[in-house]
Amino acid sequence: MYQNPSTHQEGASFKLHYGDMTDSSCLVKIIAQVRPTEIYNLAAQSHVKISFDLSEYTAEVDGVGTLRLLDAIRTCGLEKQVKFYQASTSELYGKVAETPQNEKTPFYPRSPYACAKMYGFWIVINYREAYDMFACNGILFNHESPRRGENFVTRKITRTVAKISLKQQEVLELGNLDSKRDWGHARDYVEAMWMMLQLEKPDDFVIATGETHSVREFVEESFKFIGKTIEWRGSGVDEIGVEKGTDVVRVKVNPKYFRPTEVDLLLGDASKAKSVFGWTPKVGFLDLVKDMMTADIELMKNNPRA
Ligand code: GDD
Repeated sequence: MYQNPSTHQEGASFKLHYGDMTDSSCLVKIIAQVRPTEIYNLAAQSHVKISFDLSEYTAEVDGVGTLRLLDAIRTCGLEKQVKFYQASTSELYGKVAETPQNEKTPFYPRSPYACAKMYGFWIVINYREAYDMFACNGILFNHESPRRGENFVTRKITRTVAKISLKQQEVLELGNLDSKRDWGHARDYVEAMWMMLQLEKPDDFVIATGETHSVREFVEESFKFIGKTIEWRGSGVDEIGVEKGTDVVRVKVNPKYFRPTEVDLLLGDASKAKSVFGWTPKVGFLDLVKDMMTADIELMKNNPRA
C-alpha cells in the first residue's frame, strides 16, 4: 500500500491502489477489498533530516498512521487472519545506550522521525498483546541498494561519484563525514521481513550486518571504484577531500546537511534473527558499494540528467 496516490495497473502481477496513511477510511476500504493475508507497513516519511522540518506530518504518517492501519485491520474483522510487519528502525537507538545494539537495548530517539517510529513500535506490541494479533517489529538497520532515494547519503555519494567519473560533476557536498552506520543490502533485508511473517509466533527482531562504517569510508570506497584515491585535509566544516595525484577538490563539507541532533554510531547485533529463523546477510559492505556504483555509472551514462 502506498502512502502517496499512484496508478492502478490492470494486467500486472500486482495491483496498486490509491491510499494515504492519514486517511483511515481509505485504509479500511483497501483492506476490505483486498483481504490480504500479510501487510508490510513500509509507508513513511522516512528521511531523518526532513523530519525536523515536517515534524507534525512525520508523526501523523509514521506514528498515528501505523495505528490507523492496525485499526483498519480490526475494523475489517481480519485481526486473526492478517500477519502484520512494522518497519521499525535502528534510529530508535539514537544516542546509543550500548554497542552493539540488540532487541534489549533501550531506545533514545534523536529526531521527530525516530520519536514517531517509537510510537509505531509500541502500538504494534500493544495490539499484539491486547488483541492477539500476529504483528512483528523488524528493527532494521540502514539498508541500501541502487533503488535508494537520492537524498539518502549512500545513494547521494554513488550518484555523484558516478557523475564525477563521467565528468558530469566536479565535487560532492556532504554533512557529517564521521557518523557511522551498519549498512546492509536491501535485498537481504526484504527477505528477513518475509521470514519474520512465516514464523509460528510474532516477535521483534534486529536485522543488521554486525559491521559499522563511516560516511567517510563509504566516500573513499566509492572513489576507489572509479580508480581515484581521496586524501583528507583540514578539519570540521573546512575539511576537504582531494584527489590524490591531481589535488582536485572532490569532497566538501556543507553544514546545511548537518542535523540538529545526530545519531553518531549504529551497529546491530542480529543474532536473535539468526538463531530463530536462520537469517544472515549475504552482501557485505564492499559488494554493496560496488552494486550501487555499477548501477549509477550505467544510469548516468545513459541519462546524464538523471
Ligand atoms: N542524507 C544525508 N545527506 N546524510 C548525510 C549527508 C548528506 O549529505 N552527509 C552526511 N550524512 C550523514 C547523516 O548525518 C547520517 O548520520 C548518515 O549520513 C546517514 O544518513 P541517511 O542516509 O540520511 O540515513 P539515516 O541513517 O539518517 O536514516 C536511514 O536509515 C534508517 C535506519 O537506521 C533512513 O532510511 C531511515 O528511514 C531509517 O529508519
